[in-house]
Amino acid sequence: MITRSATLNVMMSAARKAARGLIRDFGEVEQLQVSLKGPSDFVSSADLKTEKILRQELQKARPAFGFLMEEGGRIEGSDASHRWIIDPIDGTTNFLHGIPHFAISIGLERDGEIIAGVVYEPVHDEMFHAEKGAGAYLNEHRLRVSARRRMDEAIFATGIPYKGRPGHRQFLADAEAVMANSAGIRRFGSAALDLAYVAAGRYEGYWESGIKAWDIAGGIVLVREAGGYVTDFDGQGDMLQKGEVVAANDQLHRPLFSLLQSVRKDGGHPD
Ligand code: IPD
Ligand code: CA
Repeated sequence: MITRSATLNVMMSAARKAARGLIRDFGEVEQLQVSLKGPSDFVSSADLKTEKILRQELQKARPAFGFLMEEGGRIEGSDASHRWIIDPIDGTTNFLHGIPHFAISIGLERDGEIIAGVVYEPVHDEMFHAEKGAGAYLNEHRLRVSARRRMDEAIFATGIPYKGRPGHRQFLADAEAVMANSAGIRRFGSAALDLAYVAAGRYEGYWESGIKAWDIAGGIVLVREAGGYVTDFDGQGDMLQKGEVVAANDQLHRPLFSLLQSVRKDGGHPD
């Protein structure tokens, strides 16, 4: 039996409760996919509903904590040191297209540091959870990052910018460097799950820029507690502020980081 703090239990049960409606809505999306109207409006309302349940549940249990949410923005709490950072559906584009790869992400920040994280993938009932100093878990199983040491055996996930997002040229330069040195790149479409999968040793690392705090807050502590490293592109810990992340197992963080730095020297590739 693993022992979990009351706070982590609150986070996990909020995620499970919110996921019940989300799974029903996902079933609907699969139907709407083939209709002319399309599922977009429906998905926005699923996002809002999910966030509302998460907020209600977390607020009930810890009334003083603040919030930073994808939909609802920032809400100050009377406890200035704690806040929840929430993404109700990370992987919205997948959800919208009926692709079963999306998650609820909840991070708990204390004085600027993420101390607990939950990433719940409801389709396969995978509950990734971690607390600082207490290890990372997938359901009841302890997680450990992968043991691969060689770049040419490693696979790395990333996010690809699209229309309306900056960073296209920089992404192409990053990808060119990583593909030439690794066993491959994956783009699954959920940053929260990308971090969770690094923690689970499913792939060796993940990098992305132009990302928001709620995409990554739940997953950062998972990787660290599973024995991996997470930094920004300067090797510092300002991922949430800068909106960039380099995460990998303990052996390959440095080589991945160095590759990404090498394509950023002299100012990188501005759009
Ligand atoms: C997106 C996903 C995706 C990442 C994007 C995010 P959303 O979040 O995490 O993997 O590449 O940068 O915006 O829109 O699905 O909540
Ligand atoms: Ca997101």
